[in-house]
Amino acid sequence: MRRVNRDQRARIRLTLNGRAVSAEAEPRMLLSDFLRHALGATGTHVGCEHGICGCCTVMIDGAAVRSCLTLAVQAEGREVRTVESLAAPDGKLNKLQQAFQNHHALQCGFCTPGILMSFTDFLARNAKPTEEELREVLSGHICRCTGYAGIMAALNEAAGVASSENPRRKP
Ligand code: FES
Ligand code: FES
Repeated sequence: MRRVNRDQRARIRLTLNGRAVSAEAEPRMLLSDFLRHALGATGTHVGCEHGICGCCTVMIDGAAVRSCLTLAVQAEGREVRTVESLAAPDGKLNKLQQAFQNHHALQCGFCTPGILMSFTDFLARNAKPTEEELREVLSGHICRCTGYAGIMAALNEAAGVASSENPRRKP
């Protein structure tokens, strides 16, 4: 195995969920690993590690990105936002999270942080999306538990889309 020269480690400074943070990383370290292991932001999940499943999605400077396809050094000086930023400091869920709870849009929850971050970006840029557009964005995420029906119901609610297909109504 190729040995990594520890002297190549660099200190990465960035803003994480509104807070200035820094930690050391080797040049090859993925942002997903940096967030989880160096910064303790374990809400970001790691599944496939090659850009398919979407569960590692975070936001950099307001845009959703796969953190498993991003190097930690690329986040230097940037604004990174993870799922930990969504709820209020007192724990109150935001509108999107609440919709997921209302429609039981998760089971194990492994895919959920990435979906929430993708749609935090998408809904910020699209005030009145169609159900088809929501489905297209969701197609970038793999959920092995839910069958997606509850997730679509939650997304429709959060986006204000009326859908005849909503299988679960808000209580
Ligand atoms: S872990 Fe990044 S897309 Fe699957
Ligand atoms: S809720 Fe388990 S993978 Fe989506």
